Amino acid sequence: MEKRAYKERIIYQIYPLSFKDSNNDGYGDLKGIIQKLDYLKELGVGMIWLSPIYNSPMKDNGYDISDYYKINPLFGTMEDFDTLLEETKKRDIKIVMDLVVNHTSDQHPWFQEALKNKDSKYRDYYYFRKGNGKKPPNNWNSAFSGYCWEKVPNEDNMYYLHLFTKEQPDLNYHNEEVIKEVENILKFYLDKGVAGFRCDVISQIYKTSLENGKFSLFSRGREHYENQEGAFKILERFRREVLDKYDDVFLVGETSSLTPKIGQEFIDRRALDMFFEFDHAFCKSFKLVPIFKKPVYKAKLLFKPIFKWQKEVSWIGAYLENHDQLRSVSRFGDEKKFFKESAKALSLFLLSLKGTIFIYQGQEIGTLNYKNLTYEETDDCMAKNATETAMKMLHVSKRRAFKWVNDTVNRDHARAPFQWDDSINGGFNEGHQTWIKINDNYKNINVKNEVNDKNSILNFYKKMIHFRNHSDTLKYGSFEEIKSNSYVAKFLRRTNDETLLIVANLSNKQIKDKKLDETKEILVSNYDKHENKVLKPFEAIIYKIK
Ligand code: NOJ
Repeated sequence: MEKRAYKERIIYQIYPLSFKDSNNDGYGDLKGIIQKLDYLKELGVGMIWLSPIYNSPMKDNGYDISDYYKINPLFGTMEDFDTLLEETKKRDIKIVMDLVVNHTSDQHPWFQEALKNKDSKYRDYYYFRKGNGKKPPNNWNSAFSGYCWEKVPNEDNMYYLHLFTKEQPDLNYHNEEVIKEVENILKFYLDKGVAGFRCDVISQIYKTSLENGKFSLFSRGREHYENQEGAFKILERFRREVLDKYDDVFLVGETSSLTPKIGQEFIDRRALDMFFEFDHAFCKSFKLVPIFKKPVYKAKLLFKPIFKWQKEVSWIGAYLENHDQLRSVSRFGDEKKFFKESAKALSLFLLSLKGTIFIYQGQEIGTLNYKNLTYEETDDCMAKNATETAMKMLHVSKRRAFKWVNDTVNRDHARAPFQWDDSINGGFNEGHQTWIKINDNYKNINVKNEVNDKNSILNFYKKMIHFRNHSDTLKYGSFEEIKSNSYVAKFLRRTNDETLLIVANLSNKQIKDKKLDETKEILVSNYDKHENKVLKPFEAIIYKIK
């Protein structure tokens, strides 16, 4: 298999708003990230993916960009970004940018110009269309609830398309100039030395037609814009015209409505180097049924879908958390009885998978969902919209609707300020009110406590990352599932030289396994002592097969 930096290095995702606030204004910033680079180096991270840091009115926390060539003043300046690049380079860490080009912000000068002047060339940068009688141009709905067409002010029966919030108008990839604009953005940051891009909702950029979508409660229209041939062709062009001119750079796609066949096609055509699948991440989300009961996350909901992708595609971005998901220990672990064990089991499981491993900030210390968050304290636009939609559709109270949203999709669980220590605001800053509340468990769960505890989750992550960084078998070996039960994830990673067996009990039950431990040497495990042929709750082991 071809050796590439993106295949070997652990990628750590930073959500800049919440990582470290260096100037005590309540928002994380680039200088804060620079202050913590040694922490990341020590952890063993080889690349950092930065969620968007560009100019933005922050309606969707930076996923609404108003200037691709400027740094959001909340985060700092272009000079700070250049310093970050230098400082990461010194530490042999690479930077991956977030490329958000399905849409811009409605405050982007292109869109502003398009609104002001019907004859401007920027009209065709977006989708402006006449309504269908009194209705919008088609029946599609937005990923953030409601229709995805917004009326243009002061124009008769004119709408524009937005697959996300109305402040995020979609770009029109039938327009050659739009494609060139994106190529220029890519070049600008590649010239600065970034290693690649995480491409936001990239599977949706090309709208083949604007026909009505077939019936679906929440995702009407997708068949017209998900994974279209046009998107493949544009990405192939980016590769040919831009990426291939740089050394060892890559694209990871945020892709939805995917099958392994389509995912593999992205890779085979070099449209993307890898992609994220969402089967495990969304296992209990966006389903109205659970509104009357708390979702129960079982081990197999996590590892079965992951195994499907591991088996069927040649490479993948493997992850448990990101800025859009609930915290993994809160869903798939056991926060109360087996907090440490379950966080470590999830760490061993993730860091043994095939593909590029992504760790989301705070995951390495076992950060939990922020359960006591109220609707009023929630910042996430999607969580708020989903609450309102549920209230309308199901005629339930706001309290009940929000409870469901909080249990299943509130993205703020992952966005609360990072818990560095037990001082005010968890050491995120020096006491200024933070942009969203910090989780009130920060006095117990924080980096400072965990650095000093040799049995901490953080130290286990370090150990696992170190192990993977030195294991060609975990980096490049094949993946083979071993049939087990619905509690235990079992698989082999194999090269010509070595075979590793990974066994992770992802449940709070003790499991007996007669076949365990026969002529196998334990290389890593999350319990001090292992009892022959028994897996304790959340016990996870990497064996070397002799
Ligand atoms: C996916 C991003 O991860 C999410 O945070 C954002 O809201 C949408 N794309 C829209 O850009």
